[in-house]
Amino acid sequence: MRPTVAPFPAARLRRTRRTGALRALTRQNTLSVDDLIWPIFLRDGEGVSEPVVSMPGVNRLSVDLAVVAAQEAAALGIPVICLFPYTDPALKTELCEEAWNPDNLSNRAIRAIKAAVPEIAVMTDVALDPYNANGHDGIVRDGVIVNDDSVAALVKMALAQAAAGADILGPSDMMDGRIGAMRTALEAAGHSDVAILSYSAKYASAFYGPFRDAVGASGALKGDKKTYQMDPGNSDEALRLIERDLMEGADMVMVKPGLAYLDICHRVKTTFGVPTYAYQVSGEYAMIQAAAQNGWVNGEALMMESLLAFKRAGCDGILTYFAPAAARVLLKG
Ligand code: PBG
Repeated sequence: MRPTVAPFPAARLRRTRRTGALRALTRQNTLSVDDLIWPIFLRDGEGVSEPVVSMPGVNRLSVDLAVVAAQEAAALGIPVICLFPYTDPALKTELCEEAWNPDNLSNRAIRAIKAAVPEIAVMTDVALDPYNANGHDGIVRDGVIVNDDSVAALVKMALAQAAAGADILGPSDMMDGRIGAMRTALEAAGHSDVAILSYSAKYASAFYGPFRDAVGASGALKGDKKTYQMDPGNSDEALRLIERDLMEGADMVMVKPGLAYLDICHRVKTTFGVPTYAYQVSGEYAMIQAAAQNGWVNGEALMMESLLAFKRAGCDGILTYFAPAAARVLLKG
C-alpha cells in the first residue's frame, strides 16, 4: 500500500501533529509491557548481586535473588524472563557436560522461579558457550566447531531445560539442524508444549562484547564465531535461516543484534508474518547507558525511542536489559 497525500494546502501534514491528543490518535506503533522479555544473568551463591561492569545497572544474581527479580518482573507485568548463567570456570570442559546437568545453575534457577512465580514464562539460552572450555557455542575439535556433535549436545541441554520447567527454549548457537533435532526430541520426551524461540538470524557481531564479560566467556573464547554466526553483510541469508527454522518447528524467531539490523526485522515480519523478536543486545545497552551516564543523551528517552523502533520495524517483542526500567516508564504513563 502506497501512502497518499493531497496537494498543499489540502494536506497540511502538521495538522495531526499539533497536540498530544492528535499525536496519540494517529500514532501507528506503541510499546507495551507485554512486548518485553527481560534477560538476567545468574551466578552461584546466596544473596549475591554482583555488578557487570560493562553493563551499568545490570547484575549477576544468585538463584534466590533471581527469584526476587522474577517476582519484580511479574509485578510489573513483564511476561517473560530469560536466564543466562555465569558458570564457574572449573566446570567448563571440552565436551561441555555441565550444559545438560539437571542441577546446573540455570536449571536450578528455572525450577526455583517456576515454583515461586508460576505465571511468568521462563526462557532459556541453548548454546554451549557458558560451559565450554573453548568459549564457543558448539563443540570444538581440532580447531573446528563441529556441527552434528554440537547438535547432539544441544539436544541434551534442551531436554534438561524442558524437564526443569522452561516454557521457551532459545537456541542461540547457530548450528544447522538443531531446531528439528530439538523439536523431535521434545516430542519424544513428552515436552510437546515447550516453545522454541529460535535465534534464527544471529550475526557475528561486536555488539556482544559486554555479554561475554557478563557470562565469563570472553577469556575462554579462542578465535571468533564467524563460521556459524552470520556475516553482517548478508540479508537474504537471514530469510533462508528463518524459513528453515520455521519449517523445522520453531514457534517464534529472533533477529540479533537489534537496532543495527532493523531492516532484517522488517523483512522477516513482512515476508513470513510470524511472531518476530529482536534482541537489543549488551553492546546496544552499554552504549545507551554510557552516553546517558556522561549526560550526553537523555537516557530514558533514548531507551523508549529505541524500543519503539523495534515495534515500528515489525517486531512483536524485544529482549532487552531495559525491560524493568521501560516497564516502569510505561506504567507511570
Ligand atoms: C551466546 C549468546 C550471546 C548472546 C546471547 N547468547 C553471545 C555470543 O554469541 O557470543 C549475546 C547477548 C548480548 O550481547 O546481550 N550463546
